[in-house]
Amino acid sequence: MEQKKSSFTGSIGFVLAAAGSAVGLGNIWRFPNLAAKHGGGLFILVYIALVLLFGFALLMTDIAIGRKTGMNAGNAYGAISKKWKWVGHLTFVVPAIIMMYYTVIGGWILRYFTEYVTFNGATVAQDGYFGSFISSPVSPIVFMLIYLLITAVIVYAGVEKGIEKFSKIVMPALLLLIAGIAIYSLTLSYTDASGVTRTGLEGAAIYFVPNFEGMTFGKFINVVLDAMNQMFYSLSVAMGIMITYGSYVKKDVNINKSVTQIQLFDTMVAILSGMMIVPAVCVFFGPERMTEEAGAGLMFVTLPKVFENMGFAGHIVAILFFVMVAFAALTSSVSIMETVVASCMEYFKKSRKQMSLLVAACAAIGALVVCLGYNVFYFELALPNGTVGQILDVADYVSNSVIMPFITIMTCVLIGWIVKPKWVIDEVQLNGEKFGRRGLYIVIIKFVAPVVMTILLLKALGIF
Ligand code: PHE
Repeated sequence: MEQKKSSFTGSIGFVLAAAGSAVGLGNIWRFPNLAAKHGGGLFILVYIALVLLFGFALLMTDIAIGRKTGMNAGNAYGAISKKWKWVGHLTFVVPAIIMMYYTVIGGWILRYFTEYVTFNGATVAQDGYFGSFISSPVSPIVFMLIYLLITAVIVYAGVEKGIEKFSKIVMPALLLLIAGIAIYSLTLSYTDASGVTRTGLEGAAIYFVPNFEGMTFGKFINVVLDAMNQMFYSLSVAMGIMITYGSYVKKDVNINKSVTQIQLFDTMVAILSGMMIVPAVCVFFGPERMTEEAGAGLMFVTLPKVFENMGFAGHIVAILFFVMVAFAALTSSVSIMETVVASCMEYFKKSRKQMSLLVAACAAIGALVVCLGYNVFYFELALPNGTVGQILDVADYVSNSVIMPFITIMTCVLIGWIVKPKWVIDEVQLNGEKFGRRGLYIVIIKFVAPVVMTILLLKALGIF
Protein backbone atom coordinates (compact mmCIF):
# COMPACT_ATOMS: atom_id res chain seq x y z
CA MET A 1 0.00 0.00 0.00
CA GLU A 2 1.36 3.35 -1.03
CA GLN A 3 1.98 5.65 1.93
CA LYS A 4 -0.24 8.74 2.00
CA LYS A 5 1.85 11.84 1.62
CA SER A 6 -0.82 14.47 2.03
CA SER A 7 -1.67 15.85 5.43
CA PHE A 8 -3.04 18.93 7.14
CA THR A 9 -0.21 21.08 8.50
CA GLY A 10 -1.70 21.15 11.97
CA SER A 11 -4.74 21.01 14.15
CA ILE A 12 -6.20 24.38 13.06
CA GLY A 13 -6.06 23.51 9.38
CA PHE A 14 -7.78 20.22 10.06
CA VAL A 15 -10.47 21.71 12.31
CA LEU A 16 -11.32 24.44 9.79
CA ALA A 17 -11.40 22.02 6.86
CA ALA A 18 -13.62 19.59 8.77
CA ALA A 19 -15.82 22.45 9.98
CA GLY A 20 -15.98 23.54 6.35
CA SER A 21 -17.39 20.18 5.45
CA ALA A 22 -19.82 20.19 8.35
CA VAL A 23 -21.06 23.72 7.79
CA GLY A 24 -23.20 23.62 4.69
CA LEU A 25 -26.70 23.99 3.39
CA GLY A 26 -27.93 21.84 6.27
CA ASN A 27 -27.00 24.57 8.71
CA ILE A 28 -28.39 27.37 6.61
CA TRP A 29 -31.63 26.09 5.18
CA ARG A 30 -32.59 23.11 7.35
CA PHE A 31 -31.78 24.17 10.88
CA PRO A 32 -33.79 27.46 10.95
CA ASN A 33 -36.80 25.74 9.44
CA LEU A 34 -36.68 22.86 11.92
CA ALA A 35 -36.33 25.27 14.83
CA ALA A 36 -39.31 27.31 13.62
CA LYS A 37 -41.35 24.15 13.23
CA HIS A 38 -40.43 22.59 16.56
CA GLY A 39 -41.03 25.27 19.16
CA GLY A 40 -38.06 27.60 18.60
CA GLY A 41 -35.83 27.54 21.64
CA LEU A 42 -37.14 24.11 22.53
CA PHE A 43 -35.58 22.67 19.39
CA ILE A 44 -32.37 24.63 19.96
CA LEU A 45 -32.09 23.28 23.50
CA VAL A 46 -32.74 19.71 22.38
CA TYR A 47 -30.20 20.11 19.60
CA ILE A 48 -27.51 21.48 21.92
CA ALA A 49 -28.16 18.69 24.41
CA LEU A 50 -27.79 16.10 21.65
CA VAL A 51 -24.62 17.73 20.35
CA LEU A 52 -23.08 17.60 23.82
CA LEU A 53 -24.28 14.09 24.62
CA PHE A 54 -24.12 12.20 21.33
CA GLY A 55 -22.75 14.28 18.51
CA PHE A 56 -19.14 13.66 19.27
CA ALA A 57 -19.31 9.88 19.11
CA LEU A 58 -19.77 9.29 15.39
CA LEU A 59 -17.54 12.18 14.38
CA MET A 60 -14.82 10.83 16.61
CA THR A 61 -15.30 7.32 15.24
CA ASP A 62 -14.92 8.44 11.62
CA ILE A 63 -11.86 10.58 12.32
CA ALA A 64 -10.23 7.85 14.39
CA ILE A 65 -10.88 5.23 11.68
CA GLY A 66 -9.22 7.53 9.15
CA ARG A 67 -6.22 8.40 11.22
CA LYS A 68 -5.61 4.91 12.58
CA THR A 69 -5.78 3.16 9.20
CA GLY A 70 -4.43 6.06 7.14
CA MET A 71 -6.88 5.01 4.44
CA ASN A 72 -10.09 6.10 2.83
CA ALA A 73 -13.36 4.43 3.72
CA GLY A 74 -13.13 2.12 0.69
CA ASN A 75 -10.17 0.27 2.18
CA ALA A 76 -10.37 1.32 5.83
CA TYR A 77 -13.29 -0.95 6.69
CA GLY A 78 -11.50 -3.90 5.09
CA ALA A 79 -8.38 -3.06 7.08
CA ILE A 80 -10.38 -3.15 10.31
CA SER A 81 -11.99 -6.46 9.44
CA LYS A 82 -11.83 -8.28 6.09
CA LYS A 83 -15.49 -9.25 6.12
CA TRP A 84 -16.51 -5.58 6.40
CA LYS A 85 -14.81 -4.31 3.30
CA TRP A 86 -18.16 -3.99 1.51
CA VAL A 87 -19.29 -1.33 3.98
CA GLY A 88 -16.30 0.73 2.86
CA HIS A 89 -17.26 0.37 -0.76
CA LEU A 90 -20.83 1.30 0.06
CA THR A 91 -19.57 4.38 1.89
CA PHE A 92 -17.92 5.51 -1.34
CA VAL A 93 -21.33 5.62 -2.99
CA VAL A 94 -22.67 8.35 -0.67
CA PRO A 95 -20.33 11.23 -1.58
CA ALA A 96 -20.41 10.07 -5.21
CA ILE A 97 -24.18 10.60 -5.28
CA ILE A 98 -24.15 13.78 -3.18
CA MET A 99 -21.49 15.32 -5.41
CA MET A 100 -23.85 15.25 -8.39
CA TYR A 101 -26.66 17.22 -6.82
CA TYR A 102 -24.70 19.45 -4.44
CA THR A 103 -22.91 20.80 -7.51
CA VAL A 104 -26.23 21.69 -9.09
CA ILE A 105 -27.36 23.60 -5.99
CA GLY A 106 -23.95 25.30 -5.92
CA GLY A 107 -24.69 26.50 -9.44
CA TRP A 108 -28.02 27.95 -8.31
CA ILE A 109 -26.20 29.86 -5.56
CA LEU A 110 -23.74 31.32 -8.06
CA ARG A 111 -26.58 32.32 -10.36
CA TYR A 112 -28.39 34.17 -7.55
CA PHE A 113 -25.16 35.83 -6.52
CA THR A 114 -24.63 37.01 -10.10
CA GLU A 115 -28.17 38.34 -10.29
CA TYR A 116 -27.69 40.43 -7.14
CA VAL A 117 -24.30 41.72 -8.21
CA THR A 118 -25.87 42.91 -11.46
CA PHE A 119 -28.76 44.57 -9.56
CA ASN A 120 -31.38 42.11 -10.72
CA GLY A 121 -32.78 41.47 -7.24
CA ALA A 122 -36.29 42.59 -8.19
CA THR A 123 -36.47 39.98 -10.94
CA VAL A 124 -35.24 37.25 -8.61
CA ALA A 125 -37.95 38.14 -6.08
CA GLN A 126 -40.75 37.66 -8.60
CA ASP A 127 -43.11 34.71 -8.31
CA GLY A 128 -42.06 31.82 -10.46
CA TYR A 129 -38.47 33.02 -10.99
CA PHE A 130 -36.87 30.03 -9.27
CA GLY A 131 -39.03 27.46 -11.05
CA SER A 132 -38.44 28.94 -14.46
CA PHE A 133 -34.69 29.28 -13.81
CA ILE A 134 -34.10 25.68 -12.75
CA SER A 135 -36.22 24.34 -15.59
CA SER A 136 -34.50 26.49 -18.22
CA PRO A 137 -32.25 24.52 -20.58
CA VAL A 138 -28.88 26.30 -20.47
CA SER A 139 -28.32 28.59 -17.50
CA PRO A 140 -28.41 26.00 -14.64
CA ILE A 141 -25.89 23.89 -16.56
CA VAL A 142 -23.51 26.79 -17.16
CA PHE A 143 -23.52 27.87 -13.50
CA MET A 144 -23.19 24.27 -12.36
CA LEU A 145 -20.08 23.90 -14.52
CA ILE A 146 -18.54 27.08 -13.10
CA TYR A 147 -19.21 25.89 -9.55
CA LEU A 148 -17.78 22.47 -10.35
CA LEU A 149 -14.67 24.04 -11.83
CA ILE A 150 -14.02 26.07 -8.67
CA THR A 151 -14.46 22.95 -6.52
CA ALA A 152 -12.21 20.88 -8.77
CA VAL A 153 -9.43 23.49 -8.81
CA ILE A 154 -9.25 23.42 -5.01
CA VAL A 155 -9.21 19.62 -4.85
CA TYR A 156 -6.67 19.47 -7.68
CA ALA A 157 -4.38 21.79 -5.69
CA GLY A 158 -4.23 19.20 -2.93
CA VAL A 159 -4.85 18.87 0.79
CA GLU A 160 -2.43 21.43 2.08
CA LYS A 161 -2.26 23.95 -0.75
CA GLY A 162 -5.91 23.61 -1.77
CA ILE A 163 -8.31 22.46 0.92
CA GLU A 164 -6.51 23.68 4.02
CA LYS A 165 -5.56 27.04 2.59
CA PHE A 166 -9.03 27.67 1.22
CA SER A 167 -10.72 26.68 4.49
CA LYS A 168 -8.41 28.86 6.56
CA ILE A 169 -9.51 31.95 4.63
CA VAL A 170 -13.11 31.12 3.97
CA MET A 171 -14.30 29.75 7.30
CA PRO A 172 -13.43 32.78 9.47
CA ALA A 173 -14.91 35.01 6.74
CA LEU A 174 -18.09 32.94 6.77
CA LEU A 175 -18.43 33.31 10.52
CA LEU A 176 -18.04 37.09 10.31
CA LEU A 177 -20.54 37.39 7.47
CA ILE A 178 -23.19 35.28 9.14
CA ALA A 179 -22.78 37.05 12.49
CA GLY A 180 -23.00 40.43 10.74
CA ILE A 181 -26.17 39.56 8.84
CA ALA A 182 -27.72 38.01 11.97
CA ILE A 183 -27.18 41.23 13.93
CA TYR A 184 -28.64 43.25 11.08
CA SER A 185 -31.70 40.97 11.09
CA LEU A 186 -32.36 41.87 14.71
CA THR A 187 -32.56 45.57 13.85
CA LEU A 188 -35.31 45.12 11.23
CA SER A 189 -38.80 46.51 11.64
CA TYR A 190 -41.74 46.54 9.21
CA THR A 191 -45.34 47.71 9.22
CA ASP A 192 -47.53 45.72 6.85
CA ALA A 193 -50.60 46.88 4.92
CA SER A 194 -52.93 46.12 7.84
CA GLY A 195 -50.88 48.40 10.12
CA VAL A 196 -49.22 45.63 12.13
CA THR A 197 -45.60 46.34 13.02
CA ARG A 198 -43.23 43.43 13.55
CA THR A 199 -39.64 43.78 14.70
CA GLY A 200 -36.53 41.67 14.38
CA LEU A 201 -36.35 41.29 18.13
CA GLU A 202 -39.85 39.82 18.23
CA GLY A 203 -38.75 37.42 15.53
CA ALA A 204 -35.69 36.51 17.56
CA ALA A 205 -37.95 35.81 20.54
CA ILE A 206 -39.97 33.38 18.42
CA TYR A 207 -36.72 31.67 17.49
CA PHE A 208 -35.02 31.59 20.87
CA VAL A 209 -37.82 31.27 23.45
CA PRO A 210 -38.89 27.66 23.99
CA ASN A 211 -42.50 27.16 23.00
CA PHE A 212 -44.26 24.22 24.61
CA GLU A 213 -47.67 24.96 23.15
CA GLY A 214 -49.44 21.79 22.05
CA MET A 215 -46.41 19.69 22.96
CA THR A 216 -47.18 16.07 23.72
CA PHE A 217 -44.84 13.22 24.50
CA GLY A 218 -45.22 11.82 20.99
CA LYS A 219 -44.46 15.18 19.44
CA PHE A 220 -41.46 15.64 21.67
CA ILE A 221 -40.04 12.32 20.49
CA ASN A 222 -40.45 13.60 16.95
CA VAL A 223 -38.54 16.75 17.84
CA VAL A 224 -35.73 14.65 19.26
CA LEU A 225 -35.60 12.40 16.19
CA ASP A 226 -35.57 15.36 13.81
CA ALA A 227 -32.81 17.00 15.85
CA MET A 228 -30.82 13.77 15.83
CA ASN A 229 -31.20 13.39 12.08
CA GLN A 230 -30.20 16.99 11.49
CA MET A 231 -27.16 16.64 13.73
CA PHE A 232 -25.74 13.59 11.95
CA TYR A 233 -26.34 15.14 8.54
CA SER A 234 -24.81 18.40 9.65
CA LEU A 235 -21.64 16.74 10.93
CA SER A 236 -21.02 15.00 7.57
CA VAL A 237 -20.55 11.63 9.28
CA ALA A 238 -21.11 8.17 7.77
CA MET A 239 -20.21 9.36 4.29
CA GLY A 240 -16.53 8.53 4.36
CA ILE A 241 -15.74 12.23 4.36
CA MET A 242 -14.49 12.48 7.92
CA ILE A 243 -12.60 9.21 7.44
CA THR A 244 -10.73 10.74 4.52
CA TYR A 245 -10.04 13.96 6.41
CA GLY A 246 -9.05 11.89 9.45
CA SER A 247 -6.47 10.09 7.34
CA TYR A 248 -4.74 13.46 6.79
CA VAL A 249 -4.49 14.22 10.51
CA LYS A 250 -1.05 13.97 12.05
CA LYS A 251 -0.55 11.61 14.95
CA ASP A 252 0.19 14.37 17.45
CA VAL A 253 -3.16 16.12 16.98
CA ASN A 254 -5.58 15.82 19.88
CA ILE A 255 -8.68 14.29 18.23
CA ASN A 256 -10.87 14.80 21.27
CA LYS A 257 -10.23 18.52 21.32
CA SER A 258 -10.57 18.87 17.55
CA VAL A 259 -13.94 17.14 17.58
CA THR A 260 -15.23 19.58 20.20
CA GLN A 261 -14.02 22.53 18.13
CA ILE A 262 -15.58 21.22 14.91
CA GLN A 263 -18.89 20.70 16.67
CA LEU A 264 -18.76 24.11 18.28
CA PHE A 265 -18.19 25.76 14.91
CA ASP A 266 -20.95 23.77 13.24
CA THR A 267 -23.49 24.42 16.00
CA MET A 268 -22.64 28.09 16.20
CA VAL A 269 -23.22 28.57 12.48
CA ALA A 270 -26.52 26.66 12.69
CA ILE A 271 -27.78 28.84 15.54
CA LEU A 272 -26.58 32.06 13.89
CA SER A 273 -28.23 30.98 10.69
CA GLY A 274 -31.59 30.83 12.42
CA MET A 275 -30.91 34.16 14.08
CA MET A 276 -30.32 35.59 10.62
CA ILE A 277 -33.23 33.98 8.78
CA VAL A 278 -36.10 33.57 11.28
CA PRO A 279 -36.39 37.25 12.37
CA ALA A 280 -36.04 38.49 8.78
CA VAL A 281 -38.77 36.19 7.48
CA CYS A 282 -41.02 36.90 10.51
CA VAL A 283 -40.68 40.67 10.14
CA PHE A 284 -41.83 40.77 6.54
CA PHE A 285 -44.11 37.76 6.27
CA GLY A 286 -45.07 36.69 9.78
CA PRO A 287 -43.95 33.60 11.67
CA GLU A 288 -46.13 31.13 9.72
CA ARG A 289 -44.06 31.66 6.61
CA MET A 290 -41.01 30.19 8.33
CA THR A 291 -42.61 26.79 8.63
CA GLU A 292 -44.18 26.77 5.20
CA GLU A 293 -41.03 26.51 3.21
CA ALA A 294 -37.87 24.59 3.92
CA GLY A 295 -34.74 23.88 1.91
CA ALA A 296 -34.46 25.33 -1.55
CA GLY A 297 -37.85 27.05 -1.30
CA LEU A 298 -36.74 28.99 1.76
CA MET A 299 -33.46 30.12 0.28
CA PHE A 300 -34.33 30.69 -3.36
CA VAL A 301 -37.97 31.82 -3.11
CA THR A 302 -38.73 33.30 0.32
CA LEU A 303 -35.43 35.03 1.08
CA PRO A 304 -35.24 36.98 -2.20
CA LYS A 305 -38.67 38.40 -1.32
CA VAL A 306 -37.34 39.30 2.13
CA PHE A 307 -34.32 41.06 0.56
CA GLU A 308 -36.60 42.94 -1.80
CA ASN A 309 -38.61 44.25 1.14
CA MET A 310 -35.46 45.57 2.79
CA GLY A 311 -35.04 48.15 0.02
CA PHE A 312 -31.56 49.15 -1.05
CA ALA A 313 -29.93 47.55 1.99
CA GLY A 314 -31.49 44.31 0.78
CA HIS A 315 -29.18 44.28 -2.24
CA ILE A 316 -26.09 44.50 -0.10
CA VAL A 317 -27.39 41.95 2.40
CA ALA A 318 -28.31 39.61 -0.46
CA ILE A 319 -24.85 39.83 -1.99
CA LEU A 320 -23.19 39.17 1.37
CA PHE A 321 -25.67 36.38 2.06
CA PHE A 322 -24.97 34.54 -1.19
CA VAL A 323 -21.21 34.96 -0.75
CA MET A 324 -21.58 33.39 2.66
CA VAL A 325 -23.74 30.55 1.34
CA ALA A 326 -21.31 29.98 -1.51
CA PHE A 327 -18.47 29.66 1.02
CA ALA A 328 -20.48 27.22 3.11
CA ALA A 329 -21.43 25.14 0.08
CA LEU A 330 -17.99 25.19 -1.52
CA THR A 331 -16.15 23.89 1.52
CA SER A 332 -18.71 21.09 1.72
CA SER A 333 -18.42 20.30 -1.99
CA VAL A 334 -14.66 20.28 -1.69
CA SER A 335 -14.86 17.69 1.09
CA ILE A 336 -17.23 15.58 -0.98
CA MET A 337 -15.08 15.68 -4.10
CA GLU A 338 -11.90 15.17 -2.11
CA THR A 339 -13.35 11.98 -0.64
CA VAL A 340 -14.25 10.65 -4.06
CA VAL A 341 -10.90 11.67 -5.57
CA ALA A 342 -8.88 10.24 -2.68
CA SER A 343 -10.80 6.97 -2.86
CA CYS A 344 -10.24 6.75 -6.62
CA MET A 345 -6.52 7.43 -6.11
CA GLU A 346 -6.47 4.48 -3.74
CA TYR A 347 -8.62 2.23 -5.92
CA PHE A 348 -6.84 2.90 -9.21
CA LYS A 349 -3.39 3.78 -7.86
CA LYS A 350 -3.28 6.94 -9.91
CA SER A 351 -2.20 10.50 -9.16
CA ARG A 352 -4.34 13.21 -7.60
CA LYS A 353 -4.20 15.27 -10.76
CA GLN A 354 -5.43 12.43 -12.97
CA MET A 355 -8.18 11.42 -10.58
CA SER A 356 -9.32 15.03 -10.02
CA LEU A 357 -9.85 15.40 -13.74
CA LEU A 358 -11.63 12.07 -14.04
CA VAL A 359 -13.91 12.70 -11.04
CA ALA A 360 -14.70 16.24 -12.20
CA ALA A 361 -15.67 14.89 -15.61
CA CYS A 362 -17.91 12.23 -14.05
CA ALA A 363 -19.42 14.81 -11.68
CA ALA A 364 -20.21 17.05 -14.64
CA ILE A 365 -22.09 14.24 -16.36
CA GLY A 366 -23.96 13.29 -13.19
CA ALA A 367 -24.83 16.91 -12.41
CA LEU A 368 -26.01 17.38 -15.98
CA VAL A 369 -28.50 14.57 -15.48
CA VAL A 370 -29.69 16.22 -12.24
CA CYS A 371 -30.13 19.55 -14.08
CA LEU A 372 -32.13 17.82 -16.80
CA GLY A 373 -34.34 16.41 -14.05
CA TYR A 374 -36.18 19.74 -14.14
CA ASN A 375 -36.94 19.72 -17.84
CA VAL A 376 -36.09 16.80 -20.15
CA PHE A 377 -36.21 14.08 -17.49
CA TYR A 378 -38.90 15.68 -15.35
CA PHE A 379 -40.98 13.33 -13.21
CA GLU A 380 -42.80 13.40 -9.92
CA LEU A 381 -41.90 10.47 -7.79
CA ALA A 382 -43.58 9.84 -4.46
CA LEU A 383 -40.89 8.82 -1.98
CA PRO A 384 -41.53 6.42 0.92
CA ASN A 385 -40.96 9.24 3.44
CA GLY A 386 -44.03 11.03 2.15
CA THR A 387 -42.37 13.65 -0.06
CA VAL A 388 -42.55 14.03 -3.82
CA GLY A 389 -39.42 14.76 -5.79
CA GLN A 390 -37.34 15.02 -8.93
CA ILE A 391 -33.92 13.47 -9.60
CA LEU A 392 -32.22 15.80 -7.11
CA ASP A 393 -34.58 14.86 -4.30
CA VAL A 394 -34.35 11.18 -5.11
CA ALA A 395 -30.53 11.36 -5.00
CA ASP A 396 -30.70 13.20 -1.67
CA TYR A 397 -33.18 10.70 -0.27
CA VAL A 398 -31.21 7.61 -1.31
CA SER A 399 -27.84 8.92 -0.08
CA ASN A 400 -28.84 10.75 3.10
CA SER A 401 -31.99 9.08 4.31
CA VAL A 402 -31.29 5.47 3.35
CA ILE A 403 -27.61 4.64 2.82
CA MET A 404 -26.21 7.00 5.45
CA PRO A 405 -28.21 5.64 8.42
CA PHE A 406 -27.48 2.12 7.19
CA ILE A 407 -23.73 2.80 7.16
CA THR A 408 -23.97 4.33 10.62
CA ILE A 409 -25.66 1.21 11.95
CA MET A 410 -23.00 -1.02 10.36
CA THR A 411 -20.19 1.18 11.70
CA CYS A 412 -21.66 1.02 15.20
CA VAL A 413 -21.92 -2.76 15.04
CA LEU A 414 -18.36 -3.06 13.75
CA ILE A 415 -16.81 -0.69 16.28
CA GLY A 416 -19.17 -1.35 19.18
CA TRP A 417 -19.44 -5.13 18.99
CA ILE A 418 -16.84 -6.65 16.65
CA VAL A 419 -13.56 -4.83 17.27
CA LYS A 420 -14.89 -3.15 20.44
CA PRO A 421 -14.83 0.59 21.28
CA LYS A 422 -11.31 0.30 22.67
CA TRP A 423 -10.12 0.25 19.06
CA VAL A 424 -11.23 3.87 18.68
CA ILE A 425 -10.48 4.91 22.25
CA ASP A 426 -6.84 3.83 21.89
CA GLU A 427 -6.47 6.07 18.85
CA VAL A 428 -8.05 9.03 20.64
CA GLN A 429 -5.73 8.54 23.59
CA LEU A 430 -2.69 7.83 21.46
CA ASN A 431 -0.53 10.52 23.08
CA GLY A 432 -2.02 10.11 26.51
CA GLU A 433 -4.77 12.67 25.84
CA LYS A 434 -7.64 12.80 28.26
CA PHE A 435 -10.87 11.30 26.91
CA GLY A 436 -13.40 12.48 29.47
CA ARG A 437 -16.52 11.07 27.83
CA ARG A 438 -15.14 7.56 27.34
CA GLY A 439 -17.92 5.77 29.20
CA LEU A 440 -20.53 7.75 27.34
CA TYR A 441 -18.82 6.96 24.05
CA ILE A 442 -19.12 3.23 24.67
CA VAL A 443 -22.83 3.44 25.51
CA ILE A 444 -23.58 5.55 22.45
CA ILE A 445 -21.66 3.47 19.95
CA LYS A 446 -22.99 0.16 21.27
CA PHE A 447 -26.60 1.03 22.01
CA VAL A 448 -27.91 4.55 21.46
CA ALA A 449 -26.66 5.33 17.95
CA PRO A 450 -27.62 2.00 16.34
CA VAL A 451 -31.10 2.08 17.87
CA VAL A 452 -31.77 5.69 16.91
CA MET A 453 -30.41 5.18 13.42
CA THR A 454 -32.59 2.11 12.94
CA ILE A 455 -35.65 4.16 13.90
CA LEU A 456 -34.60 6.95 11.51
CA LEU A 457 -34.01 4.45 8.71
CA LEU A 458 -37.39 2.79 9.23
CA LYS A 459 -39.00 6.22 9.29
CA ALA A 460 -37.31 7.17 6.04
CA LEU A 461 -38.49 3.93 4.46
CA GLY A 462 -42.02 4.74 5.54
CA ILE A 463 -42.28 1.61 7.69
CA PHE A 464 -42.48 3.41 11.02
N1 PHE B 1 -22.83 18.68 6.51
C1 PHE B 1 -23.28 19.51 5.46
C2 PHE B 1 -24.40 20.41 5.92
O1 PHE B 1 -24.73 20.50 7.06
C3 PHE B 1 -23.80 18.80 4.29
C4 PHE B 1 -22.92 17.82 3.67
C5 PHE B 1 -23.45 16.68 3.25
C6 PHE B 1 -21.60 18.05 3.50
C7 PHE B 1 -22.69 15.77 2.68
C8 PHE B 1 -20.81 17.14 2.94
C9 PHE B 1 -21.38 15.99 2.53
O2 PHE B 1 -24.99 21.05 5.11
